[in-house]
Amino acid sequence: MIDDISAERVVIFDTTLRDGEQALAQSLSMQQKLQIALALEDLGVDVIEAGFPISSAGDFESVQTIARALRRAVPCGLARAVPGDVTRAAEALKAAERFRIHTFIATSTLHVEKKLRRSFDDVLAMGVAAVKEARKWTDDVEFSCEDAGRTPIDNLCRMVEAAIDAGATTVNIPDTVGYTFPTEFGGIIRTLMNRVPNIDRAVVSVHCHNDLGMATANSLTALQEGARQIECCMNGLGERAGNCALEEVVTAIRLRQAWLKGLKTGIVHERIARTSMLVSKICHEPVPSHKPIVGSNAFAHSSGIHQDGVLKNRETYEILTPESVGVHGNVLHMTARSGRHMIKACLEKLGYTESDYNMNDLYARFLKLADKKGQVYDYDLEALLFFTKVEE
Ligand code: KIV
Ligand code: ZN
Repeated sequence: MIDDISAERVVIFDTTLRDGEQALAQSLSMQQKLQIALALEDLGVDVIEAGFPISSAGDFESVQTIARALRRAVPCGLARAVPGDVTRAAEALKAAERFRIHTFIATSTLHVEKKLRRSFDDVLAMGVAAVKEARKWTDDVEFSCEDAGRTPIDNLCRMVEAAIDAGATTVNIPDTVGYTFPTEFGGIIRTLMNRVPNIDRAVVSVHCHNDLGMATANSLTALQEGARQIECCMNGLGERAGNCALEEVVTAIRLRQAWLKGLKTGIVHERIARTSMLVSKICHEPVPSHKPIVGSNAFAHSSGIHQDGVLKNRETYEILTPESVGVHGNVLHMTARSGRHMIKACLEKLGYTESDYNMNDLYARFLKLADKKGQVYDYDLEALLFFTKVEE
């Protein structure tokens, strides 16, 4: 459990090392996983899902090592809703002073009939038994209804109620295949909050995949309906199109705190950029340049109109400062769309004053070059300045 239990506190449950790692081309070594876990702890994440202990000896050992090393964040291990899994997870985690067991079973009709080949009542009984088994080891038990986004709502309500009665302290509602729309997913959470009689005895969590690019929107909508735990991965890693990106959801919560009626996380926002870089490097997963918050273009301005605005007042085109997420300043790209104001500002930064050049002449040369080349760099500008002078 986390220490701050105020109604506005959103628990950040990171699954980079479980859902994220399972989708990497190359698996991570124990040392690499430990390095990521410690960085996530420094970032202020509340719960770290360190792996799936029954899946391999290596995963077991990694979960055990991380469980021993964490000081503040709660280590967690995944287990299917079968007794052997729960015991294995508990054995990996028990070295920690406090730990969470996360057990799950699929509840959508498609998964129940075609994958598990059982009745829904059997699945419900398996979920309940797994939660009870997990509670023998810890009082921090999370239960997930896999494919909740496509589960008939009456079945979902029944399963959630039964899991809480069996002792689950967190009930997680995954949109496993990233299928729902924000209003639809928000409606699922609202129905659970209204219809499940014991819902106030557990934290409602969401775990949204990004197959239609809606993982962050779905997670935020769920918060507005009463969810208080978000499951996410650094840089949006995870199965297929990934999970809800940690950096996006926590930044949105902070930036739009008033809109979200005071919700907050324990994240140290200034550590976001460096944690993103570390995860990207260790996982060999480059961050796309246009990725919100952590992409190299996230604080870059290319159009002349935008550059002019930013040079006069950054807030015209920046909704948050790069420094607030640990990025060192914005970038103004010199392109054929850049105006004279921008070129003058760049030359000033390079130490030139207006007496060093003729702006009309220099700007004409600059446009010619930018049209051919695309982005123009400081050294290009200095070369243009040099040739302008030589030809004078
Ligand atoms: O996407 C999913 O449903 C999961 C569960 C194991 C929580 O990853
Ligand atoms: Zn998942």
